[in-house]
Amino acid sequence: MPTLTILPSGITSTVAPGTTLLAAILAAGDKLISKCGGEAKCGACHVFINEGRKSLSKPTKPEHAKLDELVGVSSKSRLACQAQMGEEDVTVEILSFM
Ligand code: FES
Repeated sequence: MPTLTILPSGITSTVAPGTTLLAAILAAGDKLISKCGGEAKCGACHVFINEGRKSLSKPTKPEHAKLDELVGVSSKSRLACQAQMGEEDVTVEILSFM
């Protein structure tokens, strides 16, 4: 199974493909705020993908729409509640400005 590395904590965890990054981060014992229950509505789970971005599930229309509304979005941005792990290792950065 692929490994998820979470920054800045440095926590690592093996994660089954298909698991959302939000679920994986919380299961690994790190903290990430979710105000909408993972519905791509609050934007609180905005993260940067530093490695392995192409192995994640493709962004959905609701995810694109929410990212368009957020401040500080870059080409590395994903909503952790929408992005699902693929077959490759991923490094995710939890943003300090969120
Ligand atoms: S938890 Fe609300 S957008 Fe991801």
